[in-house]
Amino acid sequence: MEVKVKILGAGSIGNHLAYACRQLGWNVTICDIDPAALRRTRDKIFPGRYGKWDETIRLVQPAEVADEAFEVIIIGTPPDSHIDLALECLAKTPPRVLLIEKPLCTPLLQSCEQLIPIAKRVGTRVLIGYNHTLTSNTLLAEEWLQEGKLGKILTIDVQIREHWQGIFKAHPWISGPEETYLGYTQRGGGALAEHSHGLAIWQHFARLSGNGRIVEVSAMLDMVREAGAYYDRLAQLSLRTETGLTGLLVQDVITEPAKKYLRILGSGGYLDWFINIKPGADAVKLWSQDDVERAQYFEKTRPDDFLPEINHIERILSNPALSSPISLEYGLETMLVIAAAIKSHQERRVIKIDYTRPYGLESLT
Ligand SMILES: NC(=O)c1ccc[n+]([C@@H]2O[C@H](COP(=O)([O-])OP(=O)(O)OC[C@H]3O[C@@H](n4cnc5c(N)ncnc54)[C@H](O)[C@@H]3O)[C@@H](O)[C@H]2O)c1
Repeated sequence: MEVKVKILGAGSIGNHLAYACRQLGWNVTICDIDPAALRRTRDKIFPGRYGKWDETIRLVQPAEVADEAFEVIIIGTPPDSHIDLALECLAKTPPRVLLIEKPLCTPLLQSCEQLIPIAKRVGTRVLIGYNHTLTSNTLLAEEWLQEGKLGKILTIDVQIREHWQGIFKAHPWISGPEETYLGYTQRGGGALAEHSHGLAIWQHFARLSGNGRIVEVSAMLDMVREAGAYYDRLAQLSLRTETGLTGLLVQDVITEPAKKYLRILGSGGYLDWFINIKPGADAVKLWSQDDVERAQYFEKTRPDDFLPEINHIERILSNPALSSPISLEYGLETMLVIAAAIKSHQERRVIKIDYTRPYGLESLT
C-alpha cells in the first residue's frame, strides 16, 4: 500500500518512524522548524542508524506542506507542542490517522479534552505512540494471559528503570536534560512522562485482565533541581483500578543496566514480560501450577520496536473499524494517571480519578 505520511519533528523518533514507514514502502515527508535538524537527519542520524540516507524522503520546513493532504500524520516533536500541533492538523488538513508520540501532552493536560470530539467530527483516528503495546512479546503475553492459567489476577508490577544516558547518546547535540523538555516534569519530561511506556503497559494488562481503569493513585517522586532543570528522576506509584486490583509501578532515569519488566501475578501462577531482557531481545515467561514453565525470546533490533506500530496503522487504514490498544482514549488515561501522581506527590495523599468528568485536572480529586 502506498501511503503518504508527514512526520513532524526530524529528531530521534522522527528518524525511527521515517525508517519504519519506508520499510513498508510509504511516501515519507519529514518537517522540522529547525533547518539544522533537517540537515542532521540527512547527514548524520538516518545514515548513522540505517546505513545510508534514503533519497526518496522529502525534507521540508512545516510551512512548505502546511496545506498539503496526507493520509497519515505523525507528531514526533517535544510533548509540550503535541496538543497545539494535533489541533492544527485536525483543523487544517485532517489525515485518516494521526499518530501522536508519547506522552500525549504535559501533565497540565491543557486543551487535551478537545481532541476526542474534534477527531470524531473530522473522521481522524488518533493513536498515541506506546509502541511496546504492539510488539511480539506483548502479543504473546496477551495470548498466554487469555488461556486463564494464572487464575485470579492478584497484582501487576511494572518497572521501567533505565538511565537516560542512552537518550543523550542518541542526541549528541544536547549537553544535558536542562536543554530539552526531558529536564522538566511540567513539560512532559522526567521519569514519569518520558518512561510512561511503563504506566501504559500496566494499564494495558489491567484492562485485558478485566480490571478496568486506574481510579486511585498514590505516588512518591524523587525531584531533582539541577542546572535550571526540575524533574523527577524516580517515580514510585501505588495504583488501584476500578475492580480493586492493586499494584506497583516504578519508572526512573537513573538505573544502569536498565530493567524493563512487568509481572502479572495470579492465584495460579505468574507471567513475566521483558523489554531487552538481554541486548537485542524481548521476552515473555510463564509459570503456572498446572503447566511446564514457558519462556520465549524475541530477537530484535531497535527498528523492530517501531515496525509493529506502523503495520498497525496500515491495518487501520485498510480496516477503519479495527480497535486499537494505543487509542487516544487510552493515551488520555495514561496522562490522567501521570497528572494524578504529581498531585499525589505534591499533596502527600491518595488522588482519585473521576472519568465522568472531562479529561483535565478537574477530574482529579
Ligand atoms: N516511542 C518511543 O520509544 C520514543 C522514542 C524517542 C522519543 N519519543 C518521543 O518523541 C517525542 C520527541 O522526542 P525526540 O527524542 O525525537 O526529540 P528531538 O528533540 O530529538 O526531536 C524533536 C524535533 O522536533 C522539532 N520540532 C519542535 N517543534 C516543531 C514543530 N512545531 N514542527 C516541526 N518540528 C518541530 C525540533 O526542532 C526537533 O528537531 C517525545 O515526545 C518523546 O517522548 C518516543
